Amino acid sequence: MKLRFADERDIDAVASVHLAAFPGFFLTSLGRKFLSEMYRGFLNHPSGIFLVAEGEGKVIGFAAGTSEPSSFFTELRRKRFISFLLCAFPALLRNPSTVLQKLIKAVFYRGDKPAGLEGGALLSSIGVRPDVLGKSIGQKLLNGFEREVLLRGRDFVYLTTDKVGNDRVNAFYKKNGYFVESSFSQHAGRTMLRYVKNI
Ligand SMILES: CC(C)(COP(=O)(O)OP(=O)(O)OC[C@H]1O[C@@H](n2cnc3c(N)ncnc32)[C@H](O)[C@@H]1OP(=O)(O)O)[C@@H](O)C(=O)NCCC(=O)NCCS
Repeated sequence: MKLRFADERDIDAVASVHLAAFPGFFLTSLGRKFLSEMYRGFLNHPSGIFLVAEGEGKVIGFAAGTSEPSSFFTELRRKRFISFLLCAFPALLRNPSTVLQKLIKAVFYRGDKPAGLEGGALLSSIGVRPDVLGKSIGQKLLNGFEREVLLRGRDFVYLTTDKVGNDRVNAFYKKNGYFVESSFSQHAGRTMLRYVKNI
């Protein structure tokens, strides 16, 4: 397995891994075009940290985040709002108000400036292709992401994930040295855990 920085040619494959790794999630429901645009955001911002794991010449996993969550999300709102709306158009037509509300929360305010976590890097998304789970690919992606965070002068990483029905993912973060910093409720009564790791 090879770990490397993502580039534009990986976007479609990353969207495929996302679609397979996050079935039933809201962002997945917005489709490939939307996901491609979202991941492109990490390529196009200087604070973006975007790694892919490659096996037999194919993308089998990815990790995407930012070393400056605050400026990253401000810029995302400013530069990509219209294009996100256009990419989410089919879903918006089906259910305009719910999709718009969720879209704004899920994309533009994801991890944005949580109190007390200023100065940290945000891991926004990590996924491994379902047929190669449990082979330490996730761990290698996480380690690579943390190395890059350190190189950029940040000394901790934070992220959020579901508390309920998500035991394996929670075990994955704990095993990799992350601790629960807080928990909070999101729309539709979803309980989220915010994890931190000092690196
Ligand atoms: C979380 C994820 C990236 C871990 O990737 P991975 O390559 O399977 O992880 P590793 O092999 O490095 O670590 C294995 C550990 O992850 C956990 N794990 C989570 N889901 C797992 C699965 N389906 N199969 C095996 N291990 C899994 C276990 O704790 C396991 O530890 P163990 O081997 O001691 O039981 C991967 O399960 C995934 O893509 N999940 C779906 C997307 C997701 O929920 N991402 C996180 C959102 S915040």
